[in-house]
Amino acid sequence: MTENPYETDKLVGEYLLFHYGSPQEILPYADGPQNALHFPVRAVTDMISLEERSAETDRALDLGCAVGRSSFVLSEYFSETVGIDYSHAFIHAAQIMAQDHAVPYRRIDEGILSTPLTARLPQTARPDRVSFRQGDAMDLPFDLGVFDLVLLANLICRLPQPDRCLARLPDLVAVGGELIITSPYTWLDEFTPREHWLGGYHAPGDQPIVTIEALTESLSPHFQIVKRRNLPLLIREHARKYQWTMAEGSLWKRVAPAEID
Ligand SMILES: C[S@@+](CC[C@H](N)C(=O)[O-])C[C@H]1O[C@@H](n2cnc3c(N)ncnc32)[C@H](O)[C@@H]1O
Repeated sequence: MTENPYETDKLVGEYLLFHYGSPQEILPYADGPQNALHFPVRAVTDMISLEERSAETDRALDLGCAVGRSSFVLSEYFSETVGIDYSHAFIHAAQIMAQDHAVPYRRIDEGILSTPLTARLPQTARPDRVSFRQGDAMDLPFDLGVFDLVLLANLICRLPQPDRCLARLPDLVAVGGELIITSPYTWLDEFTPREHWLGGYHAPGDQPIVTIEALTESLSPHFQIVKRRNLPLLIREHARKYQWTMAEGSLWKRVAPAEID
């Protein structure tokens, strides 16, 4: 069986840099795509208005949280944030960050040349309000309770059966609460068997199925789409190679059946 890439030191390092690295550590090129930096922050702040939150009562869930940066952003505004990821290595790094406020790692520069760096917790984060646990977004425990916000950042096209995760969302998001889904819709057989792709294929009769429409159908009637926007992101692989991605962010409101027209 192939190793889960998200358990490797290489990806733990890449994601610590992606989530916590300074612009200079990630992209020391003035002519690089600077607007693609800080994705784990923008996945929250570009999608919802945070001032209206109650830091006394509101709860947030970050599914597929990786090494935790978006969870720490949410901790500034929500009384409790739960971060869940399938990768033990990612959750371990996120827990060390919550506990020590710093995580050492190596950034690959070229071949096996690397630089030791330390990922640091932003000063505004509230680690006392965050918990991280390893778990499967397709088989979540039933004791999680309900949340005022659920974030799925670049998770759905990494799941073997994304529909199983989507099916739990009506129970997880409180009526009136919000759901953020971001995704580049990178459907790959190695992560998601084709019969479980939400979009990116032709239906019988040659009709193209695109993910945002499939999501709208799948989340209906419990969620209504509120907005869509482009969210660029940049993952540094080494000093001269990056993944530049244009994810789509979609914001959904959980509605009660009576509100549905
Ligand atoms: C592309 S990364 C996105 C991580 C993070 N949300 C971000 O935006 O940087 C996909 C994440 O989903 C996690 N993941 C994959 N399968 C999962 C599953 N079944 N349940 C929970 N998390 C999963 C991976 O470990 C990884 O952290």
